[in-house]
Amino acid sequence: MKRQAPAAARNRQPILDVLTPRLPARGLVLEIASGSGEHIVHFAEALPDLVFQPSDPSPEARASIDDWAQSLTLGNVRPALALDAAADLWPLECANAVLCCNMIHIAPWEAAVGLIAGASRILPKDGTLYLYGPYRRGGRHTAPSNEAFDLDLRRRNPAWGVRDLETVASLAEAQGFGLPEIIDMPANNLSLVFKRL
Ligand SMILES: C[S@@+](CC[C@H](N)C(=O)[O-])C[C@H]1O[C@@H](n2cnc3c(N)ncnc32)[C@H](O)[C@@H]1O
Repeated sequence: MKRQAPAAARNRQPILDVLTPRLPARGLVLEIASGSGEHIVHFAEALPDLVFQPSDPSPEARASIDDWAQSLTLGNVRPALALDAAADLWPLECANAVLCCNMIHIAPWEAAVGLIAGASRILPKDGTLYLYGPYRRGGRHTAPSNEAFDLDLRRRNPAWGVRDLETVASLAEAQGFGLPEIIDMPANNLSLVFKRL
C-alpha cells in the first residue's frame, strides 16, 4: 500500500534540483532507505535516462515503493531490494551513484558506518554518494528546531540522533571519498555530495 510522507513531498524537488547536475547522465542509482518511495519515483520521472534501484529493510516500505513505481508505470525503477545499510554484503555489486535521505540520524551509528563502507565498495572512481538530512556543525546544532528534533530522536531511541557533519566526513574520507560539497537546504537540512576518489 502506498505510503505518503508529507516531508518527502516538500523536499523532493529541492533534492532533485541538487541531484540533477550532480548525477551521471546514464547509469544505475541506488537509493538506501527509500522509505515511502516518493523520492525515488519523483527522481525517476524527472531523469528517465537513469535507472533507479530503491531499497529498504522494511517490508512495508518496500511494498509502498513498488506500489508507487507501478502506479506511475515507470520503466526506470527496479523492484525494491531488502537492504540493511549496516550489512557487510549488499545485494548489489555496483552502482554509479548512491543516495540516502534521512536515514543516518534515525538508525544506529552502525548504519551510517555501513552505508559509507558499502557505498565505497560499490561505487567506481568519481561515483557520487549523496546524503540528505540535518547535521550538527562544529559541535553545535544549526537551529533550535534541529536541537529539539535531536532530543526527541534520542528519547525515542538512545542509538539515534543528529550526527556531526565532521564525523561523517571523516568516516567518508577514511573510506576513500573526497571532502563533501555542502549545500544548504530548506528547513535547516543539508545536502552532502561526496565523490569516490
Ligand atoms: C525517516 S525514513 C526516511 C525515508 C526516506 N528516505 C525519506 O527521506 O523520506 C528512514 C528510513 O530508514 C530505513 N532504515 C532504518 N535503518 C536502516 C538501515 N540500517 N539500513 C537501511 N535503511 C534503514 C527505515 O526503514 C526507513 O524507511
